[in-house]
Amino acid sequence: MTIPTPNTPESVFTYAAPRLKFGPGSIEEIGHDVAGLGARSVLVVTDPVLAATGHPERVAEALRAAGLQAEVHDSAHVEPTDTSLTAAVERARSGARPDVVVAVGGGSSMDTAKAVSLLLSNPGELMDYVNAPVGGGRAPEQPVLPMVAVPTTTGTGAESTTVCVLDVLAAKVKTGISHERLRPVLAVIDPDLTATQPAGVTASAGMDILCHALESWTARPYTSHEHKQAHERVPYCGANPIADMFAERAMRLLAGAFRPAVAGDDAARTDMALAATFAGMGFGNAGVHLPHAGAYPIAGRVHDLDTDFRPDGYGQDHPMVPHGMSVAATAPAVFALTFEADPERHLAAASWLDPQGLDADVPGPERLPAVLRRLMRDIGQPSGLAEIGYGEADVDALVAGTMQQQRLLASVPRPVTEEDVAAVMRASMHHW
Ligand SMILES: [Fe+2]
Repeated sequence: MTIPTPNTPESVFTYAAPRLKFGPGSIEEIGHDVAGLGARSVLVVTDPVLAATGHPERVAEALRAAGLQAEVHDSAHVEPTDTSLTAAVERARSGARPDVVVAVGGGSSMDTAKAVSLLLSNPGELMDYVNAPVGGGRAPEQPVLPMVAVPTTTGTGAESTTVCVLDVLAAKVKTGISHERLRPVLAVIDPDLTATQPAGVTASAGMDILCHALESWTARPYTSHEHKQAHERVPYCGANPIADMFAERAMRLLAGAFRPAVAGDDAARTDMALAATFAGMGFGNAGVHLPHAGAYPIAGRVHDLDTDFRPDGYGQDHPMVPHGMSVAATAPAVFALTFEADPERHLAAASWLDPQGLDADVPGPERLPAVLRRLMRDIGQPSGLAEIGYGEADVDALVAGTMQQQRLLASVPRPVTEEDVAAVMRASMHHW
């Protein structure tokens, strides 16, 4: 069940992260910070819902107060598509050329800003850069415009990562653009910006944070990969001592803060933002694996279901599975599957997440899944894929969609077959 030992085991790991500014009130200093990057003209990218809160315009005002030109584009689309990203790029190309892009919002705004930064600085079109085989898999030859990330949803970690995720509509597939140059240069994390986040959003975003930490902690260690040459190095290098440290700290914070944050506790919200940051610094280097691979079809195929499922807190009038919810949906079953690859790591994670030992008497492989199910139930996550509207008839399509995510599957700490993924999907229909 263990991954075969490579002929020449990897001896090198890499670590990179954006500069950080963290804390309530940190957003007020953004003019100073962006001016310090040498910017004169700044494009603020956000989405229409967030634009209505006034936060992006306040960021633009702070930039103007520091003597910069700043324009706000509400061009980000929830769950970006090739069409929405291309439209955002066209809009940016038609205005004054910015020299810094500031993303204000959740993962969608950051992903949109990443695409804009890339295509304002490099030749070609979006699909040239999208991961092969869906797109051309081209690497940016020029540095992209420096990007500053101001996350307003705790969780995504997109402020730390090198990935822009998008739906390619014609191919009906969620994929991405992944390159070291896409990592933001600065992340400004102000927990006050999440003050109005509904409980349902805190719950799903929190499951995303938790899965980032758990998946990077249990990812195939960098030493289990084949030794790479300098030009072959990738941003996600597998579990490594530095990412491990951040993942552990994120889980310990979540153990105390997650339930109170969903209940509306202020101090817990700051701890959640810190946990999200730690988890992002971990998975932004180690990578994530099977729960995130399965999340792509779970979120993507819900549009084709005949279901009246609407997640709390997202104000959607159509079926939609928030990213964190789609990731968490298979997490209990995945961590039962991966237990044997490294029992010690799975048990350590369970003990950090359950410091009172409420599930301490559950047998080894089932202990971490039990801790996750109890948490998911307490914070109001769906009782399983069946509650979202999935059934046995959807298993094959969910498996096929998961198996397409080869980059993520390569990080699972054991070989994964279609049968394994089918068993995970079936076991995830009813958590309780
Ligand atoms: Fe995620």
